[in-house]
Amino acid sequence: AERHYYMNISKLVEKTPDGIARNLTVVNGQYPGPLVEANAGDKLIIHVDNQMDDEPVTIHCHGLFFSKQNSFQDGAAYMNQCPIPPSGNYTYEIDLDDTQAGTYWYHSHFGGQYADGLFGPLVIHSQEEYSAMNLSYDKDIVLMVNDYYHDSASNYLPDYLGPDNENTEPDPDNGLIQGQNKFDYVEATYLVPNGRNISDVSYTPVNVSLIDLDPDSTYRVRLINAGFFLTFEFEIDSHKLEIVEADGTLVDPIEVDSIAVSLAERYSFILKPQDEKKDLGNYWMRARFNQYCAKVENDNFNPDVRAIVSYKNSEDVSNLQVPDSSWDNGGGDVRCNEFDQSLLHTANITSVPMASNGSRLPDEKIHMEISFLIGAYQLTRGYLNGHTYESYNNGSTMYQLAFAANNNTIKNLDVQDLATSNSNQYMLNFNNKGTVVDFVINNYDDGNHPFHLHGHKFYVLAIGNAGYFSEDYYNEDSDVLNFKNPVLRDTVNIPGYGWGVLRFVIDSPGVWPFHCHIGWHIESGLMMQINSLQSEYSEWDNYPQQWYDHCQYWQDQL
Ligand code: C2O
Repeated sequence: AERHYYMNISKLVEKTPDGIARNLTVVNGQYPGPLVEANAGDKLIIHVDNQMDDEPVTIHCHGLFFSKQNSFQDGAAYMNQCPIPPSGNYTYEIDLDDTQAGTYWYHSHFGGQYADGLFGPLVIHSQEEYSAMNLSYDKDIVLMVNDYYHDSASNYLPDYLGPDNENTEPDPDNGLIQGQNKFDYVEATYLVPNGRNISDVSYTPVNVSLIDLDPDSTYRVRLINAGFFLTFEFEIDSHKLEIVEADGTLVDPIEVDSIAVSLAERYSFILKPQDEKKDLGNYWMRARFNQYCAKVENDNFNPDVRAIVSYKNSEDVSNLQVPDSSWDNGGGDVRCNEFDQSLLHTANITSVPMASNGSRLPDEKIHMEISFLIGAYQLTRGYLNGHTYESYNNGSTMYQLAFAANNNTIKNLDVQDLATSNSNQYMLNFNNKGTVVDFVINNYDDGNHPFHLHGHKFYVLAIGNAGYFSEDYYNEDSDVLNFKNPVLRDTVNIPGYGWGVLRFVIDSPGVWPFHCHIGWHIESGLMMQINSLQSEYSEWDNYPQQWYDHCQYWQDQL
């Protein structure tokens, strides 16, 4: 079936998700954006009307395969499309893969725009997925958590990208659940972002989100970290969480007290109250920032991110009594507890047996080094194998496609032309469908980096918490790499001073970004692209004229 969604993109002034007023960039006036739902195999049609007169926009559907030769609907600005100009519009037509189901999300893929509010949940239903889960639930809810800034990302970026600032990502002011949280505003100590005046600050108290649940229903909760920077450890007092899905892949169910969810990752869990049905009351839901919050220098920073889960059919959150039970489980400032963020459950999660030709070795093994901040040696940008991505006028694929080639001759361009037209970014060209590729990643930075590959999922063969990868891990007698039942997902956290091995198959024609999902790091260059432009594909024949027009617009701006 065709599913049509209409997204009007605009700026709302003086919105107060946590009480402090700021401008937000939103879809249909909503923050977070509206839920997009479809069935596996549907044609998802998103009509985007950019109603802003001063900002371009793109919508990227995070995690979708775009496997039916439509990578140009993927939304990565300047790689897969020239962004939709101010006051412009575009209709994304996405043929959903018949086999793809689960929890995804969409967000702007232009600059820091998604930190400013342009994101929302995307859920793909399928009867097969439901049957394969081998368990039943009555209701399905989506939960978005995100770190949150009191000012627009574009106001932080010039400083952050300035010289010698790469170790100083802007600290968030707060975290939100369902787009909302408390913030205790104290005028005397409030630090007005980006050097503006205290007289510009306006504040209206806001309470935490209320999530009403029916005591007689079993819930599948779809948790999405839509933040720009930090990992969350998520939990609900007096409840167990049975994880059943990670990034659209069903996993062997495991029951946990809390879930560490990195940026852009998704988990579904079956919610299991520990109290007797008749006693079900009100509970805190908590999204703790990872240990990074111990380092935050922003005086405004509120690490106390909560919502209330209520089985009492409550309407007014302000009078609710919520027992304070398990919050204080670690001593000290437990909101900044050091949880084991390095493994982030990924290594503990197993999935259906891996499809394999029996060989431990891939067709192509790509060694990749992340370098960013190395001890005292601060680099000015983020690097993958010594390359840093710079968008737009430094030459990016989309742009080059449109203008290196005289429009309509795009399909005659070979990847070599693309490669040589981009001097800065790291590119890999794959010419054969079915090639099995391992990314062997060593992270020579102290920070963790949640990496995402567009248009594909990868098997997480291993995540190393410390130390670096060794070739010996591929030997028959080593069990470090999981060739049996690794989780298959689209985003995974590579720990600081750690490593990871990700295996995927070249099966989708197009141009695909691979990048750290920390928004600040995208802007500082931790992004590369895979070109899978096999000549047998006719993708470029269907290339939308509107993209050329958009690229022409940008050309004219130069
Ligand atoms: Cu969630 Cu390149 O994106």
